[in-house]
Amino acid sequence: MEIVYLSRNDVEGLDVTMKEVLEVVDEGLRLKGLGKTQMPPKPSVYPRHNCVMHPMPAYVGEMDVAGMKWICGYPPNPAKGLPYISGLLILSDPETGIPITVMDATWITAVRTGASAGIAAKYLARKDTSVAGLLGCGVQARFTLAALVETLPRLSRVRLYDLHAASAERFVAEMGPKFPDVALEICKAPGDIAAGAGVIVTAIPILREPDPEPLDAEMLEEGMLGVGLDYDVAWTQAAIRSCDRFVSDDIGQLLYGKEHSGHLRKIPDVIDAELGEIAAGVKPGRQNDTEKIFSMQMGIGIEDLVTAKLLYDRALQAGAGARLPL
Ligand SMILES: NC(=O)c1ccc[n+]([C@@H]2O[C@H](COP(=O)([O-])OP(=O)(O)OC[C@H]3O[C@@H](n4cnc5c(N)ncnc54)[C@H](O)[C@@H]3O)[C@@H](O)[C@H]2O)c1
Repeated sequence: MEIVYLSRNDVEGLDVTMKEVLEVVDEGLRLKGLGKTQMPPKPSVYPRHNCVMHPMPAYVGEMDVAGMKWICGYPPNPAKGLPYISGLLILSDPETGIPITVMDATWITAVRTGASAGIAAKYLARKDTSVAGLLGCGVQARFTLAALVETLPRLSRVRLYDLHAASAERFVAEMGPKFPDVALEICKAPGDIAAGAGVIVTAIPILREPDPEPLDAEMLEEGMLGVGLDYDVAWTQAAIRSCDRFVSDDIGQLLYGKEHSGHLRKIPDVIDAELGEIAAGVKPGRQNDTEKIFSMQMGIGIEDLVTAKLLYDRALQAGAGARLPL
């Protein structure tokens, strides 16, 4: 018996596109919304202050994909020249349980996180959204931009803020040429990203003692969609609760996180829907142009596994990666 091992270079070299990832993640969410998946809430261990490790097992029925991602988020890493997010992913044969592949999960995490923000925008943003705001100009923000370009056809301007001006400048230098039809504007203050923005996506470090939350209720435009990829650290309670509807990628995981992580105290008592229920048509997406919607997306194993299956199939076709004995 042998597994296919895919390093980060192998994964990136398969040239899977954001469009392809959006399709499989949307389908994975739809199956979740139809109750055709299994996914317990992700537990956490904290080996160092603020530094988290999560196992993320799941099974996606119909697509017949089973496995687990093991992912770590270390806020001190970027200062050491290391990625904030790193980990590995295993897929097992659902018939026998035998592992078929192990792959680097850094790229998978970023691409499916961006895709999930893009899918939230597809279902929950105003159709005429032309301006988006991004808080934090790191890895997740790069993939979020790539996804928003796909799912918001009228997107023409993105307002950016990063605590470190140099990170925002690097973002513009790297992403500007990739998306020449979208003007990237660096803002002076974090709240400025919200001006005129139909979608705001936040992706800053999740700290136990975060800096004052940058985004407050009065900054949010009528009809906007807020997407929190970083729990609730970037938003005041008033901002989150000023929204008419609150959506999450997984209510079980959200409530588990609220109980166990020390975060998520600001979320409302009523969670209106899961994004997958909206993708499946079980619950409505945006209902009018004025409602404000908040989508809290903590990241779910289903998104990882469907992306990993896409990569695994592509690697088999291409003969990519190393074959290792079990
Ligand atoms: N929801 C999900 O599925 C998911 C998946 C992966 C990562 N994340 C989260 O996304 C966040 C970003 O991860 P990343 O991989 O992009 O990290 P990163 O280190 O690449 O980027 C974070 C950026 O935020 C900037 N920043 C730090 N504090 C800030 C502040 N107060 N205001 C504005 N900018 C600030 C940093 O300078 C950096 O550029 C983390 O909280 C991570 O846990 C979420």
